[in-house]
Amino acid sequence: MGLKPNQRLPLMAMGMLSLLMALFGGVQRLGWDLPTLTVVLPANHGPLMVGAFLGTVIGLERAVALGTLWGFLGPLATGLGGLLLIAGVVPPLAQLLIVLGSLMLSLLFVAFLRRQFAWFTVIMLVGALSWLIGNLLWLMGHNIFVVVWWWMGFLLLTIAGERMELGRMLFISKLRQSQMIAAVVVAMLGIVITLLDIDTGVRILGAGMIAIAVWLGLNDIARRTVKQTGLTRFIAVNLLAGYVWLACCGVLLLLFGADFSGLRYDAVLHSFFLGFIFSMIFGHAPVIFPAVLGRGMLYRPAFYIHVVLLHLFLTVRVVGDLTVELLPRSVGGLLNALTLLVFVLNTVLAIRAHFVAERNVQAS
Ligand code: HEM
Repeated sequence: MGLKPNQRLPLMAMGMLSLLMALFGGVQRLGWDLPTLTVVLPANHGPLMVGAFLGTVIGLERAVALGTLWGFLGPLATGLGGLLLIAGVVPPLAQLLIVLGSLMLSLLFVAFLRRQFAWFTVIMLVGALSWLIGNLLWLMGHNIFVVVWWWMGFLLLTIAGERMELGRMLFISKLRQSQMIAAVVVAMLGIVITLLDIDTGVRILGAGMIAIAVWLGLNDIARRTVKQTGLTRFIAVNLLAGYVWLACCGVLLLLFGADFSGLRYDAVLHSFFLGFIFSMIFGHAPVIFPAVLGRGMLYRPAFYIHVVLLHLFLTVRVVGDLTVELLPRSVGGLLNALTLLVFVLNTVLAIRAHFVAERNVQAS
């Protein structure tokens, strides 16, 4: 027994508030002169995005799938942690809540494994543990440029595991499964090595990312479904575009090694978080939002607007970063933030359109 759809709404709302505040802080960090909402927003941009927004949404989705009440403790903790990060009060408590959220997500995957053993669940569990370790390092006072690789590991393995899970339908051979497991091991090895030698570690992580991107590009069901129409094609287009950004991030890491701030750091982080992760979110949103909120969503071709804008402005930003041109970097970054607002708006409109269509059917 879990939470009813209406009871999940406040959790989703906390995650979305963290996203909006993180965007605000990110734009301020680019140097745009926005009013000060709270002084900590620019510094808390990364933790709000990864821990409080993505952590809450992923935790919520997994808790719904498990269907037990305790599963929702994770997204509750990260959602509340996000509120404290926004307000900038009691920082250790905010960090502790996000640590708790990642611990709960790890336990949730253990519960899935106890129900049924599967390699893709093991990969997702290792991803959750990567998030937990990163959060513990952050709680201990390590800089974000030290822990961010662990946070990347969380998202990378969550998606790799999830795509493998869907690949079951394609009857992926044992050999191909072991290729993916090998790529995941390389990526995780790189992340562990960052603790000893950050430069070598991130280069190995980059190699692992390239291997995972190539594997997904070759084996994902999206390669077939992209030839279909409507929502099915929309999802596939997003997945394939995301794999290209993942490979780009891997190449940048392999070439540059570790950076701790500045333009190359910006290019590496956002080709991963915006290019790869947000492509996954855009693609999965029409399926995940209805499942989590218990409200339907009407697919509309207008969804391609936020997709095209994301890739266009992210390219402008990353090219600006790599050519040390500050104007395209700042304008591209600002427009990235506005693109995510277009995505939220498009999602709300699609939920509303479904609601209106349903009401009309009932009335007729
Ligand atoms: C959409 C608009 C976004 C803008 C304008 C933005 C802006 C920035 C800027 C300016 C930095 C500092 C880079 C540097 O040190 O030079 C940064 C860092 C970072 N961003 Fe973003 N970002 C955006 C989206 C995202 C997303 C979607 C995520 C994650 C899902 C993310 C996660 C991070 C992380 C983890 C850092 C490192 C923070 C640190 O070292 O303190 N960003 N971002």
